[in-house]
Amino acid sequence: MTINYKTYWRKTGLKKNWGELFLNIVNEHKPKNFLEVGVFCGVTARNVCELLKEIHKNEFKYIGVDLFGEKSSKDEIVPNYLNKQKFSNPLKNLFYNFILRENLNSYESVKKFLKEFSGNVTLIKGNSNTILKSFDFKDVDFVFLDGGHSFETVFEDLNLIYKKISNNKGAVILCDDYDDSSYITGVKKAVDRFVEGKKLKPHIIRSRFAKIVI
Ligand SMILES: C[S@@+](CC[C@H](N)C(=O)[O-])C[C@H]1O[C@@H](n2cnc3c(N)ncnc32)[C@H](O)[C@@H]1O
Repeated sequence: MTINYKTYWRKTGLKKNWGELFLNIVNEHKPKNFLEVGVFCGVTARNVCELLKEIHKNEFKYIGVDLFGEKSSKDEIVPNYLNKQKFSNPLKNLFYNFILRENLNSYESVKKFLKEFSGNVTLIKGNSNTILKSFDFKDVDFVFLDGGHSFETVFEDLNLIYKKISNNKGAVILCDDYDDSSYITGVKKAVDRFVEGKKLKPHIIRSRFAKIVI
């Protein structure tokens, strides 16, 4: 099966080849209950829903957690784009900022963008360190962890996720930006400390993704 990662004229954290690699990893595991921490503009969410629909028809769930504009703690690295929704493409700037006046990283915009999958999708607005404590997601069998990138946030997210899904043998936690030593250093530190404590073995994929199989 050829898996094409589409960007839908929006912004995404995964550029084309990374998107395809990511979808191939998801396809390898064929999860039924997917959790994404850090939804951003919903592009990866939409690609995941398209793929899971192809695999499971309507029998899948996607849960996405994002701040959607809420303030995060001061030590987070906030993507430059989120500041006034910057685009390098002037047409996109005109279209989204002046014609539609739509903030692509808002709950409303992502909900609308995923409306074809409304029966499968749950979107939650808030800080993952809080949401993951209260939300019931014990059936989740694949987590894409791509929200806050500070050591503290990632380490707390990993522990909260593990607490809920540690009984799901074969479940996957895939962490993005594991080895970006020039810009983001917290993810690697957090993943390394987490796997050491839990005696798990991460599989590092092209120095970018850390895949932890439970
Ligand atoms: C790198 S982007 C995610 C990219 C997305 N996964 C994709 O593939 O396009 C990070 C996202 O995480 C969100 N975020 C940052 N800190 C967060 C936190 N503590 N809780 C929930 N979401 C958070 C930001 O609002 C942003 O949308």
